[in-house]
Amino acid sequence: MTDTARLRDIHRRCDTGTYRRRDPVLVRGRGARVIDSEGRTYIDCTAGLGVATVGHCHPAVVTAIRSQAEQLITSSNLFINEPGALLLEKLVGLAPASIQTGFFCNSGTESVEAAIKFARFSTGKQRFIAAEGGFHGRTLGSLSATHRPAYRRGFEPLLDGFDFAPFNDIQRLVAAVTPATAGIILEIVQGEGGVRVGSAAYFSAVQELCREKNLLLIIDEVQTGFCRTGKLFACEHFDLQPDLLCAAKAVAGGVPMGVTLCSGKIRIEPGSHGSTFGGNPLAAAAALAALEVMDREQLAEAAARKGERLAAGLRTIRSSRILEIRHLGLMVGIACAEPAVPLLTALQERGVLAFAAGESVIRLLPPLVISDEDIDTVIEAVASVMRH
Ligand SMILES: Cc1ncc(COP(=O)(O)O)c(C=O)c1O
Repeated sequence: MTDTARLRDIHRRCDTGTYRRRDPVLVRGRGARVIDSEGRTYIDCTAGLGVATVGHCHPAVVTAIRSQAEQLITSSNLFINEPGALLLEKLVGLAPASIQTGFFCNSGTESVEAAIKFARFSTGKQRFIAAEGGFHGRTLGSLSATHRPAYRRGFEPLLDGFDFAPFNDIQRLVAAVTPATAGIILEIVQGEGGVRVGSAAYFSAVQELCREKNLLLIIDEVQTGFCRTGKLFACEHFDLQPDLLCAAKAVAGGVPMGVTLCSGKIRIEPGSHGSTFGGNPLAAAAALAALEVMDREQLAEAAARKGERLAAGLRTIRSSRILEIRHLGLMVGIACAEPAVPLLTALQERGVLAFAAGESVIRLLPPLVISDEDIDTVIEAVASVMRH
C-alpha cells in the first residue's frame, strides 16, 4: 500500500480543492465499519454519503460484480443488456403504482436533470416549484432547483424557471403555482437541508394540488430511497404517486448508478436524452444483487427499528448543545446549538464517522446492517462529545 503521507501529499498538490478532505485514508470496509490506512476501525455513519445501505462490500454484491465483470462490463444503450433489462423491470415493479418506465444514468444529479428535461418535454411547460431548504444536486439544472444561496453563489445565471416555497407550507406552495408550472419537485426528508421530515398533511395536500392543477409530482429520493427511511421509497410513507421519482446513491450497493422512474404522463422520444454509461451491465448487476439483499435481509424493517433505537438513545442525552433529534428510519439528524464540524471531528476521534447537514446538524446515515451494539456505541460517542 502506498504510504499514507504520500497520498495526502498527492491531494495537496493535484486536487482541485473541491472537497475539504478529512485525515483518514479509508482502505477497507465491511458491513457498517471501515478501516483506515493506519489500521483504525470506525463505525461509518456516513456510508459513502448514504450509499452503502446494504453495508460495505456485501458478499452478494461483490460476487455479482466479480461475475458480471467476467461476462460484460459495458455495452452502451445501443443494445439491450441482460442485467439492465432485468433491473428496469424490477425497479418499475417495486416502485409506487404510478411508475411505468425508467431511465438509467449514473448519479443523483443526473436523475434530477433527466426529470427536469422529461417534465418540460412532456408538458410543454417550463416552470417548476421547489422547496426552500431542498437539495437536488450540483449540475446546472438540479442546482437551479436547489434553494440555498451558498450552493448557487458563483455559478449564476442558473436555469430560468424555478420558483421556491417554504417546505411544509401548502398555502405558499399553492400561491406559487402559475399556468406555466410543469411540476413540483420535493424531497420527502430534506437531507442536506438538515434532516427535516415533511408532514403527512403537507404531502397529501401536495398530491391533491398536483391532481387538481394537472402538475407533475417529482419526488427526489436520491438520499431517502432504497430502505433508508423504513420503506423501500420514502414516498410510500405518505401513499404518494409520483410522476417522476429520482433515485441514485444506494441503488447499486456502492457502484455509481442513478435512475429516473416515470409515470404514464411522461413522454420522451428516441434521441432526446441519453447517457453513455446509464444502465451499464456492471452497475445493473450490482443493483440486482443489492435489491435482493434489501429484500432478503428485510432492510426496510431493519431501518425502521434501528432508527427508533438510535433516535431514542440520542434523546436520552442531556446536553444544552443538542436542540432536537429528527429522524425517519435510519436517516437521523442531531440539530446542535453550535457548528457541527468540530463535533464531527470529536466524534471521529471516538471512532464514529458522521457528516454535517447544513451548518449545525450532525447527520447519521449508517449502513442499515449496523448492529445494535454499534448503534449503542454511536450513542455513547455522541453523549461523550456533547458532555465535553
Ligand atoms: C436529495 C438529493 N438529490 C440529489 C443529490 C445529488 O446526488 P449526486 O451527488 O449523486 O449527484 C443528492 C446528494 O446528496 C441528494 O441528497
